[in-house]
Amino acid sequence: MQSMTDAWSYVMPTSDAAVSFPCVLANNDDPSSALGIEDTLLRIAQDRSKLSDLLKEHGAVLFRGMPLRSATDFDAFIAAFDLPNFRYADSLSNAVRTNRTDRVFTANEAPSTVEIFLHHEMAQTPVYPSKLFFFCETAPQRGGETPICRSDWLLELMREQQPQFLKRCAEDGLQYTNVMPHKADAGSGQGRSWTDTLGTHDRNVAEQRLSNLGYSWTWLPQGELKVSTPVLPAVKELPNGTEVFFNQLIAAYRGWDDKRNKGEKSVTFGTGDEIPADDLAMTASLAEQITEDVAWEQGDVVLIDNYMMMHGRRPFEGSRAVLASLIAAD
Ligand code: FE2
Repeated sequence: MQSMTDAWSYVMPTSDAAVSFPCVLANNDDPSSALGIEDTLLRIAQDRSKLSDLLKEHGAVLFRGMPLRSATDFDAFIAAFDLPNFRYADSLSNAVRTNRTDRVFTANEAPSTVEIFLHHEMAQTPVYPSKLFFFCETAPQRGGETPICRSDWLLELMREQQPQFLKRCAEDGLQYTNVMPHKADAGSGQGRSWTDTLGTHDRNVAEQRLSNLGYSWTWLPQGELKVSTPVLPAVKELPNGTEVFFNQLIAAYRGWDDKRNKGEKSVTFGTGDEIPADDLAMTASLAEQITEDVAWEQGDVVLIDNYMMMHGRRPFEGSRAVLASLIAAD
């Protein structure tokens, strides 16, 4: 059998020390020797542990030019990794998404002009995936990149440049509040209905689930539901001792604006105190300095370590179809 590097050219990340992600595994450009889907699935199954090591080292792996055309192909690609599925239906994600297979769904369906700011997937809830896959079914004409940013590096920059703010985030934790509509609002980046989020139309069942998760809530007119999370950590320590700025602070503060919510009010310190605008702006600016944009090509797959790497979505023009799938905690 060929080794992984024989089958796929292995493109080391740029020599710029500030950027070591994603690492890129590219299918052969020559169609006569490019791997087809069956060989690709075999290759992944054979190289699972190497791929896992690459992900741990770089935080994200871009598979370029994969022979995938559909949600079904993408589902088979993911299955070859033999990792546990994390179903969208079981998540407390705010985003409106549509399942295409049991484990594949559309990425956030927010309008193309809306930027989705950097975040760790579902870090604004007590239950989040360990990894996520994205697949480009249709590349947009312009824009629509997926920015990715290492949170261990961000934390180091904050330690140097805004130590007091970092200390406060770490000590007090963060609390998120949002108002969920009764029916899905596809015009919003966080427009998922409370019935879908909580998997019930019954208010008593919804309240029981929220209570079990440590949330507080208020029912509003028009059937809307305002919820606040328990205080959640802003910093997470990984099993190897690395600390990461693991939260949705930037995305919530800068992006959770719609007709029901105002970003600046959507996240506070765990004490209930407001996040200072200057501190937030500094954190976002530091993150942007170490962010790399993945510019999509049809057939690309990106695998992201959700503990180490934040992601987002740039605004775009044209039609963009990026599908997603989540992996449960190990
Ligand atoms: Fe996301």
